[in-house]
Amino acid sequence: MAKNEMALSLAFKAKTQVWTTIGMWAWILHRLTGLGLVLYIFIHIVLMSTSLLRGQQAFDAMLSYLMGHPVFQALEALVLGAALYHGFNGIRILLFDLGVGIGVRSQKVLFWAFMAIAAILWAFSIAVIF
Ligand code: HEM
Repeated sequence: MAKNEMALSLAFKAKTQVWTTIGMWAWILHRLTGLGLVLYIFIHIVLMSTSLLRGQQAFDAMLSYLMGHPVFQALEALVLGAALYHGFNGIRILLFDLGVGIGVRSQKVLFWAFMAIAAILWAFSIAVIF
């Protein structure tokens, strides 16, 4: 294999290896859920304050409509899932920053342990929502 081809093949391998690591997907999902939560907080504040301005009855009516609608229930479950993922993966990142569990193997164990806790809590909250 020519030198150029070898360099290209190594670069391709490195690039594809990055996309197959859990850490890369964990980071992408952390960023997406972080941005999603920011978006949700804005929508939440606008919706709550505008319906509160129209009085208690309007507020109660809006809330019971949202809580009874299957689409909004599914969205609520999604927000909870995003918060649980972001929170637990965030704790893993903070532990890493403090020097706890450094190393590829420990990181994998910590990631899946936190994801298991998040999944259990998510399943419980889904059961409560629906
Ligand atoms: C238990 C609660 C939370 C924990 C432990 C946590 C933890 C973290 C950590 C450690 C980071 C830095 C990630 C990195 O270094 O790559 C981060 C980023 C971020 N968080 Fe949180 N977070 C929490 C709640 C929230 C909430 C409620 C929101 C939104 C309202 C939020 C929005 C964001 C955003 C937008 C980023 C930047 C993402 C990026 O640039 O990659 N987080 N969070």
